[in-house]
Amino acid sequence: MKIKEIGEKIKIGIDKIGFAMPKYFLDIRDLAIGRNENANKFVKGLMQSEMSIAPVTEDIVALGASAAEQILDEEDKKNIEMVIVGTESGIDQSKASAVFIHNLLEIQPFARCIEIKEACYGATAALNFAKNYIEQNENASVLVIASDIAKYGINTPGESTQGAGSIAMLIKKEPRIAVINDESICQTRDIMDFWRPNYSDFPIVDGHFSTKQYLDCLTTTFEEYTKRYNQDLSDFDAFCFHLPFPKLGLKAINSIFAKKVEKEEKNKFLEKFHASIIYGKRVGNIYTGSLYLSLLSLLENCDNLKAGDKIGMYSYGSGAVCEFFNLTLADGFKSHLRNDRLNDFDNRKQLSIKEYEDMFFEKIILNEEGNCDFSNNRFIQESDNAFVLEKVENHKRIYKKIK
Ligand code: HMG
Repeated sequence: MKIKEIGEKIKIGIDKIGFAMPKYFLDIRDLAIGRNENANKFVKGLMQSEMSIAPVTEDIVALGASAAEQILDEEDKKNIEMVIVGTESGIDQSKASAVFIHNLLEIQPFARCIEIKEACYGATAALNFAKNYIEQNENASVLVIASDIAKYGINTPGESTQGAGSIAMLIKKEPRIAVINDESICQTRDIMDFWRPNYSDFPIVDGHFSTKQYLDCLTTTFEEYTKRYNQDLSDFDAFCFHLPFPKLGLKAINSIFAKKVEKEEKNKFLEKFHASIIYGKRVGNIYTGSLYLSLLSLLENCDNLKAGDKIGMYSYGSGAVCEFFNLTLADGFKSHLRNDRLNDFDNRKQLSIKEYEDMFFEKIILNEEGNCDFSNNRFIQESDNAFVLEKVENHKRIYKKIK
């Protein structure tokens, strides 16, 4: 066993990262036509181009398990001691989605499985929990999944910011993608900017207030961070933001540039920012996964990053809790990522506005026995993901491995 020197800390972070989305998307310009809006409001005003649309057979469990299945091998499954799902689109008030996912992935049984909720912030809290656990249990791995389906409803102001998808991250010591560093600052504000009461299918949103809070939480948290850790912009090589829509990320990065920042330095950050929104622009908001999709997009699409570079991360969950923390890129991180992921986006099926309305807002209708069968549903045949929801039997969700 390696003997650590006194005070030496093990490096813990993201060893693998996977992403799953449904097969379908809506072009944001078609939404604009359908809602009688100027397309530029969505394309330029929000910087969104497509929205990922989930059929009823691809819920947060199916998507989350599919994202993890892409990255885990048999050895990983033996070493995972905890599965944490961050979500605000839970399928049950009681049972954690992580328990279903643990079973679908055939992870060794002596594991803890839980779900964490605080709007879009949940997965960041999960990372922190994972890191603390591994500090005490050096050889363990933790699977953190951020899985959400963002639905605001037809003809609502938030409709153009919907999306669906899951990020899975394997957290362990000596990670091959990025180390999660210790410096972090959180902030909590008891505000009603976005919330979803138990009786409502859709969130209630104070949209403009929410964007102001997101930005104000960022500037005040970043300021506190720079003071407490005696750091400034020059300590970072890039930033990733929670992206409810990419334009808010652009406002976010502009808000942390100090007045004295040179144009050249600004452009350096902005170039990386544009790499970080490539995936989000085509997926929409995926709540808990959105920040980590922006990280994946940055790492897979930016050629100006190297091992040792420090990435500032801003996580924001309405309600509100936010955190500013940072990652350091590991040696050889690029070889543990994909360079062809854009093909997955290009291979999706485009929906008409009518198809989108029918698919995204379909509800599970149970018969008197509490059953509903999707086995012959075309969405299952068309899916590229590993897992789908096959049926509900006696009120129990039954998932199926299809790939
Ligand atoms: P809106 O009020 O309909 O839009 O919805 P708007 O009038 O503010 O216009 C949007 C932008 O388009 C503006 O840009 C317009 O100027 C521009 P800005 O001035 O802000 O830079 N625009 C145009 N640009 C070019 N050509 C045109 C044109 N027309 C207008 N012709 C709103 C916007 C954000 C309110 C809405 O989408 C919404 O309610 N979204 C949901 C809430 C949200 O995403 N909030 C973000 C912060 S809260 C958060 O991030 C947490 C969250 O993820 C949930 C969680 O934590 O769980 C949401």
